[in-house]
Amino acid sequence: MAEQGKDLLVINNIEVIYDHVILVLKGVSLTVHDGAIVALLGANGAGKTTTLKAVSNLLRAERGEVTKGSILYKDKRIDSLTPNDLVKLGVVQVMEGRHCFEHLTVEENLLTGAHTRRDGRAEVMKDLEMVYRYFPRLKERRKSQAGYTSGGEQQMTAIGRALMARPNMILLDEPSMGLAPQLVEEIFEIVSELNKKEKVSFLLAEQNTMVALKYADYGYILENGRVVLDGEAKSLRENEDVKEFYLGLSTAGRKSFRDTKHYRRRKRWLA
Ligand SMILES: Nc1ncnc2c1ncn2[C@@H]1O[C@H](COP(=O)(O)OP(=O)(O)OP(=O)(O)O)[C@@H](O)[C@H]1O
Ligand SMILES: [Mg+2]
Repeated sequence: MAEQGKDLLVINNIEVIYDHVILVLKGVSLTVHDGAIVALLGANGAGKTTTLKAVSNLLRAERGEVTKGSILYKDKRIDSLTPNDLVKLGVVQVMEGRHCFEHLTVEENLLTGAHTRRDGRAEVMKDLEMVYRYFPRLKERRKSQAGYTSGGEQQMTAIGRALMARPNMILLDEPSMGLAPQLVEEIFEIVSELNKKEKVSFLLAEQNTMVALKYADYGYILENGRVVLDGEAKSLRENEDVKEFYLGLSTAGRKSFRDTKHYRRRKRWLA
């Protein structure tokens, strides 16, 4: 766990509406401390991607809008910045589904991540080597067309491209999607190393609660556009309801947090 500092990203009670009428986030608040890995958890459609897109200002392209609340990065509001301005500030999003440029090679994909930088080719090449140190597989595949690489390699390329922008913070959407368990662990190990050694903070959206809580410092569980539980990753891992609903450790199957045992759970959460 990296040493954690002050608030880096603060999301304050945001509401997001799509197409003027579809209310998706209903007052979400969360904080990412400098140096932390924070997991944003929840089932399909809970609002994880929407939350990340609200931060990186990618909602407008989808006819979505933050209609209430505020988002601060290093104590300054970032609600009206373009995604490009945010990259310059050090906040980079890795989208769900990897999104490589399929016709470019792996290396060309990585280099596109440096397009906002103005510190010259030598520095960019140094960082390319840094990316290859973390992802040796990408070095092997650097001349391959990205579209023909495996899902895991594409996920690595997407993260590597984000690193080429020299970010302070990466918003990482569902890195485990469609990958074999061993590869998921491998990617999370690298995320954890990047956090420790390169001091990159992460807000990562994951349906894979087990893995996310193994590597994160802190977690928020979203359900139906609201945070229903948050806490240190360790305490969430040990929480009976999290085990029951999200870690699949009970025979009860996955239900909604809100469905059952509301009173008992409330008591426990507040305790
Ligand atoms: N462009 C859009 N227009 C209308 N509704 C949308 C749009 N994008 C997402 N939604 C709705 O918003 C809700 C939250 O979606 P979101 O993609 O944020 O969930 P998620 O937690 O990332 O889910 P998943 O785990 O499946 O990726 C869903 O009900 C979804 O149908
Ligand atoms: Mg999503």
